[in-house]
Amino acid sequence: MSAIMDLLLFNIGELATLSHGDVSKPLSGTEMANREELIIESGSSMLISQGKIAKIGPEQELLEEFAPDMENGKSNLIELLNVNGAAIIPGLVDCHTHLLWSGDRSNEIRLRQKGLTYQDISNQGGGINKTVISTRKASQKELESIGHRNLLQSSNYGTTTIEAKSGYGLSVDSEIKILEATASLDGINHNVLPTWLGAHDFPKEKKPSEYMDELIHEQLPLVAEKNLAKWIDVFCEPGWFNLEQTETLVKNAKNFGLKSRLHVDEFVDSGGLSLAAELGSCSADHVGFSNSDSRDKANKSGTMQVFLPGTPYVLGKDLGEGIQECLENNWIFSLATDFNPNCQTLSLPFIASLATHRIGIDPLTALVACTRNPASTLNDELENCVGSINVGGPADFNILNAKSIDYWCQTPGVSPISKTFFSGSIVKSY
Ligand code: NIG
Ligand code: FE
Repeated sequence: MSAIMDLLLFNIGELATLSHGDVSKPLSGTEMANREELIIESGSSMLISQGKIAKIGPEQELLEEFAPDMENGKSNLIELLNVNGAAIIPGLVDCHTHLLWSGDRSNEIRLRQKGLTYQDISNQGGGINKTVISTRKASQKELESIGHRNLLQSSNYGTTTIEAKSGYGLSVDSEIKILEATASLDGINHNVLPTWLGAHDFPKEKKPSEYMDELIHEQLPLVAEKNLAKWIDVFCEPGWFNLEQTETLVKNAKNFGLKSRLHVDEFVDSGGLSLAAELGSCSADHVGFSNSDSRDKANKSGTMQVFLPGTPYVLGKDLGEGIQECLENNWIFSLATDFNPNCQTLSLPFIASLATHRIGIDPLTALVACTRNPASTLNDELENCVGSINVGGPADFNILNAKSIDYWCQTPGVSPISKTFFSGSIVKSY
């Protein structure tokens, strides 16, 4: 099926357009579960032309207009796809991943089971710096093929737009290598949006002050000159980058035109979310331990709180109460996978399963948190606004294996998706 041929989808079940109001803006609170505004009941049809959604309307009308000769589900005038009553949701948007790295740290589960913390494991030579050793050894070509393999997984679970951080190089050459490999992956089956995370950890061979200098005076100017990243990220957490270092890095990056999305308050409340709000970061991620005042402040400054429940899940920790607090207070939030050597999932349906089965949020709310809301932090860097299904927007969507949209996150460990379209072309089908 080619992107240039018009395609008419018919016999659609529930259609989650999520396109109420200004689709470039996130939703919050009960708006996120408003089925009347966000879902079209079964009986509609959707026309795809030139990679975009060209028309959505009642099935009979569209069939009469575009396929008046239809017989046995076929037309000589247009390509037809019988969806067999299945539900359709937007292409999923994963706004926090560590997409490219090499090596294996699966042994760390046994260390955690013995009672070692993330910090203990890092201090013993595991953690980020262990992945840095293997990622430095990988060639750019090897990283590209790892990227293709990872993106295949992400397509299998319906993601069509993905943010990808560097951060397992921690040297000028290796960080550039990761970002160049990332750039080569964009536009094939996904929009791939790069973030520079040189400040993921301090490399073993340098003093912290030396590495701060390298980040500011070597890595950042080169990343900006080569246009390899849209955002800077910093692992702002006691034991890694402190508030002052984070602020310095974000402000320097701003001078080079880079916006920020930050790792904050993953293990303790160190004031990271509050700082992100003050710095006007696009997003503040993890935010498991952030306090209510910081959450309120973030919402006021338009800083998206991105929850990553896959991380506490693999670390054997409580999933926290932050998501419910955001819902109760109408504070904007999103969900993402945080795919990394510890948390090896690129499945947003699985992350949303955690949010629905374990945290108790509505499946439609979880869907908004994995589409339109994260898209609002990325859309400025994209040609077309993603995260919803609306006329004029890109034809990025998923056909589910069931009639109800709730199904999208109710099959943990199994993909709920039969077909994924990116820019009007099928990138997954079975
Ligand atoms: O977001 N916390 C910092 N970075 C990653 C984990 C990195 C790693 O353990 O390799 C995260 O969870
Ligand atoms: Fe992360």
